[in-house]
Amino acid sequence: MQSYDEIDSTNTEAFRQTNLPDGTVLTAEFQTQGRGRIGKKWHAAKGENLLLSIVLHPKCEASRMGLLSLMAAEAVAQTVEQLTQQAPEIKYPNDVLVANKKIAGILVEARSNSTETHTAVVGIGLNVNQTVFDEGVHATSLKLLTEQEFDRTDTLITLLKFLDTKYQAFLKGETIELLKAWKSRCAMIGKVVVFRHKGAICTGKAIDVDEIGYLWIEKEGKAMRYAQTEVSDVRY
Ligand code: BTN
Repeated sequence: MQSYDEIDSTNTEAFRQTNLPDGTVLTAEFQTQGRGRIGKKWHAAKGENLLLSIVLHPKCEASRMGLLSLMAAEAVAQTVEQLTQQAPEIKYPNDVLVANKKIAGILVEARSNSTETHTAVVGIGLNVNQTVFDEGVHATSLKLLTEQEFDRTDTLITLLKFLDTKYQAFLKGETIELLKAWKSRCAMIGKVVVFRHKGAICTGKAIDVDEIGYLWIEKEGKAMRYAQTEVSDVRY
């Protein structure tokens, strides 16, 4: 475990230090260049939240790496549920929301090599004790949901336990179970969705999310497949 008071981004640092062992956790009190999905930024007030990256070296097919981000979203949702007694929703692929407000964001960055062992950095920003957010940001936190201050170390331990259980299931190949849990928190399937794909606004009916985390959309009678790394701002 590595703890930083201030750093550009825990994900960036995890890749900067090559050869970090499986399970290494990097945390920061503040990030000067926190990164979100699809080139977005992640802003979080100093010392109030959890900002972490976990280094994983799964031995699996490269195609299964997409499932890791769904798995991480489910573990974060379980953490939020346990700590707030409220049922979070997941917005494809891995935003965690309560009552339509975002409480956590996840950025999984993977590097695959020619061997069976890959490197994935699972970056998680969980809003814990922050109560004031920039204007126009639809965000919430554990504290806003419960009116209680949370011990961030205890919160981190709870999150890491849920993540470890999910990761062990991932390594055992329990794909169907992982997807089932993720889908039970995502009400998107069967609905008409609007989303951004490579800069364009697309629409269609969401028909499935498959075992490697791709989104399937029906458009004018045709089924189309979208990679989660290219889809953002999903609305339904
Ligand atoms: C998103 O919602 O777009 C994903 C946000 C991910 C933020 C976390 S904070 C810790 C880690 N380091 C980063 O720079 N990003 C992730």
